Amino acid sequence: MAEILSVADYERLAEERLEPGPWAYLAGGSGDEWTLRENRAAFERWAFRPRVLCDVSEISTATTVLGTRIELPVVVAPLAYQQLYHPDGESATARGAAAAGTAMVVSTFSTRTHEEITAAAPGVTQWCQLYVFRDRGVTREHLAGAAAAGCSAVVLTVDTPRLAQRERDLRVGFEVPSDLPLPYARAAIGDAPQNPADQFALLDPSVSWHDLEWIASEGRLPVVLKGIVTAEDAELALAHGAAAIVVSNHGGRQLDGVPATLDSLPEVVETVAGRVEVYLDGGVRRGSDIAKTLALGARAVLAGRAPIFGLAAAGEEGVRHVLELLREELTLALCLLGCTSPEELTRAHVQRSAS
Ligand SMILES: Cc1cc2nc3c(=O)[nH]c(=O)nc-3n(C[C@H](O)[C@H](O)[C@H](O)COP(=O)(O)O)c2cc1C
Repeated sequence: MAEILSVADYERLAEERLEPGPWAYLAGGSGDEWTLRENRAAFERWAFRPRVLCDVSEISTATTVLGTRIELPVVVAPLAYQQLYHPDGESATARGAAAAGTAMVVSTFSTRTHEEITAAAPGVTQWCQLYVFRDRGVTREHLAGAAAAGCSAVVLTVDTPRLAQRERDLRVGFEVPSDLPLPYARAAIGDAPQNPADQFALLDPSVSWHDLEWIASEGRLPVVLKGIVTAEDAELALAHGAAAIVVSNHGGRQLDGVPATLDSLPEVVETVAGRVEVYLDGGVRRGSDIAKTLALGARAVLAGRAPIFGLAAAGEEGVRHVLELLREELTLALCLLGCTSPEELTRAHVQRSAS
């Protein structure tokens, strides 16, 4: 096997190793996959403005998110059904994240409980990703369980009142195996083998801004809103007490036709004006992508598919290596930009590319 040098190498390995169904579910987007492609293309529309003679002999990629130190400004994004990608599922992802010194967001459709993840990766920072089921009892139990298990934030995903049409999944007939453990969703789903769209139809599309209060009080945890792409919703998020915002279009898997997240980021950053932390996800595959995102005002990125390509290819070690590759690439980018830490990146370090 040729040497693995980049996230793209892990992507190829993951595609080779996975069955067509899990691969379609992991790689695909919604509709014509325009937003999926845009998330990547947007990084190429920005170029760097490096500064020189800055003494870059010592560089740190460490930062904090909601007050927690992480060794690189990359948090592992919530991604459903991880046992599809490795027998140890989220436990392996958590060990890889812990080895790289960062935090992990655990999906409502996780195949492991927060306790199992803690046992596998003691000390790893876990945030609980929340979808609200029509059966609010299931959601209340999920929140209470997450708080009791030591999660330090709730990440409420707000872009999924229903699941978008994902044609790749339909073409290969992808179904979630009925024996997949789904500790936070099984009570709502039951035992029938189902496709993701059936499972997501159990989520409550009536959720609105008024629900943020009980979600915050039930879990007694800071609530991060994931899936904000406009200034208007960023303002409402602040008015309703959000602790942070993730500019996200669900990795191009929900409303096809929304802009790349990198193109949505500036209006959200401008509206928020430093009042809460802003993160971004979608298409992050290189350390240089992270540098551009931070230069445009995000505090950190979330990485979804990238670490899971590593999980599928090489388990815990693959996740750790993907995060390490991103850290090394970011270190190089910071050095050549004349920055010694993520905090030193500014809007002046990037410009719209001419092409
Ligand atoms: C296979 C897959 C499953 C996902 N499952 C969830 C989920 O359960 N909850 C959630 O909030 N987001 C979910 N997402 C969206 C990710 O959290 C994230 O927003 C997206 O993957 C970021 O784009 P990237 O994969 O290009 O990094 C999922 C994404 C993928 C690819």
